[in-house]
Amino acid sequence: MRTHYCGELSAALVDQTVTLCGWAHRRRDHGGVIFIDLRDREGLAQVVCDPDRADAFGTAEKVRGEFVLRITGRVRRRPQGTANPDIRSGEIEILAHEVEILNTAVTPPFQLDDDNLSENTRLQHRVLDLRRDVMQKNLRLRYRVAMAVRNHLDSLGFIDIETPMLTRSTPEGARDYLVPSRVHPGEFFALPQSPQLFKQLLMVAGFDRYYQIVKCFRDEDLRADRQPEFTQVDIETSFMDERSIQNLMERLIRDVFSDVLGVELDDPFPRMTYAEAMARFGSDKPDLRIPLELIDLTDLMKTVDFKVFRAAADLPDGRVAALRVPGADLSRKEIDDYTAFVSIYGAKGLAYIKVNDRHNVPAGLQSPIVKFLTPESLEALLQRTGATDGDLIFFGADRAKIVNDALGALRTRLGHDKGMAKPGWKPLWVVDFPMFEWDEGEKRWSAMHHPFTAPKDGHEDFLASDPGKAISKGYDMVLNGSEIGGGSVRIHRAEVQQKVFGALGISEEEARSKFGFLLDNLRYGAPPHGGMAFGLDRLVTMMAGVDSIRDVIAFPKTQRAQCLLTQAPSPVDERQLRELGLRLRETGKA
Ligand code: AMO
Ligand code: AMP
Repeated sequence: MRTHYCGELSAALVDQTVTLCGWAHRRRDHGGVIFIDLRDREGLAQVVCDPDRADAFGTAEKVRGEFVLRITGRVRRRPQGTANPDIRSGEIEILAHEVEILNTAVTPPFQLDDDNLSENTRLQHRVLDLRRDVMQKNLRLRYRVAMAVRNHLDSLGFIDIETPMLTRSTPEGARDYLVPSRVHPGEFFALPQSPQLFKQLLMVAGFDRYYQIVKCFRDEDLRADRQPEFTQVDIETSFMDERSIQNLMERLIRDVFSDVLGVELDDPFPRMTYAEAMARFGSDKPDLRIPLELIDLTDLMKTVDFKVFRAAADLPDGRVAALRVPGADLSRKEIDDYTAFVSIYGAKGLAYIKVNDRHNVPAGLQSPIVKFLTPESLEALLQRTGATDGDLIFFGADRAKIVNDALGALRTRLGHDKGMAKPGWKPLWVVDFPMFEWDEGEKRWSAMHHPFTAPKDGHEDFLASDPGKAISKGYDMVLNGSEIGGGSVRIHRAEVQQKVFGALGISEEEARSKFGFLLDNLRYGAPPHGGMAFGLDRLVTMMAGVDSIRDVIAFPKTQRAQCLLTQAPSPVDERQLRELGLRLRETGKA
């Protein structure tokens, strides 16, 4: 039906006759001449309809926004001074000979180039929203990333093997999406939170190198960078240790950035232990673009009289830490806002010292806490933090987890608020994660990654004696403060797996009922194996430079886990429920 894409036309085609198909992006009447900006996936072209061509002109008069058109005409240079340097076809226009309306359109609820649409409007009218240039670009970028991943992995001998969507619960620790079975009333499938167990089984089955770009489903509390159904680049390999696996994954990501964005990432990525990341940044996914660090004061504060600091320093899992912000000129109101911000993370306050004159202690310090500290303590504190005139020093004092969460988040927030983040890409590996973290609510250890993650060599004995001390062979890849992927070397021997279940308080019976199929098969000669999964949506969000994960997903869910386009989830008929052997406890919406 056409000879060219609108967005591909250029001055090289001057005097040629072309046929274009697309949507009427805009139509303007200019005293006798009608201009139509015709849009297709490659961009815009300006079409001129002159009254001399009565047929074409007559049809053009009927054209409205988003009508579907087929236009034949001659390419000509735009008159001097009217070129549009912003678009590829900006030097030329098409003088229409024929205009055919292939389809009409009702008036769209918004202008496609309106940049101030609410996200709800965009999600409700997602099809129109997807016509917009940015969305077309985002989804193409996503495709290019996926293809770069496939090409890279394929060249290394990885093969794509599909795994079931209707399956049993997997161990990532979120709530499952369940699917009732009609054939087996009262029984349910779970949608996979990841293909974790299947990919391990594929290693036992001898495939050696597996990958899949695959949907995962997690019914968890949604945050900005999460979706209930999201896509992983899921990878597993046999006979490689964690360092070789990390190198392979790093090359993959470096290649993808180079192929798709022309960006060369650091080679090699810096590596940091979990302990160091927490100590210096209060986070296991530090944004290294921000040049601020936490400074530990716990030892210094064990001898002060200021109750808030002393009590935290004396707790077995307590921490007192400082965040020094050079040259920060914050108003009272800003400090109050940051105090409210850290309270979200459980901080009971946000002490600070403004250093007006470093060499005049205490008179040169402006602070609500100076009066509680001796000049000697203040001097030690200023020395430790390396304070100079004009600095603002924030303090956190509490259980280490609260201090890390609060100051870690404050660090990122301040860094962005004050424009301190350096431009560019800051990838890193975080390694040496603990095997377990203490779940205060449940009063038991839980797996930091998942229960199939292998302990570091020499740490097996801690599994029983001191689980908190056991370090794992798990690793995360972090980019600009976002966890883009995580993985580990897995346990391939039954005794070790047993010990890990023991530490997690999972009985043999429970392990059998949940993961029996994995445990059984691990006994048939499981090779040493490990792997990783990347969050494709997160990766593409960052590469596209957009704020929302929903902007790189064609049909995403809202923060409330709904699809505004299809209105899913939705109630079902009584008859369907009956067939499934289900009755609703509360009628609710149904
Ligand atoms: P993990 O649970 O760390 O590991 O997930 C891997 C990566 O997937 C992304 N991700 C998400 N993206 C969007 N929305 C979500 N709700 C969401 N949850 C996770 C993150 C994360 O780094 N089976 C293991 C991997 C392995 O051990 O090989 C796993 O699923 O970017
Ligand atoms: P207060 O003695 O409660 O008035 O607190 C004195 C200062 O210490 C105030 O600036 C509080 O914001 C701050 N503060 C209180 N508790 C903490 C805490 N746990 N961590 C950091 N600062 C705190």
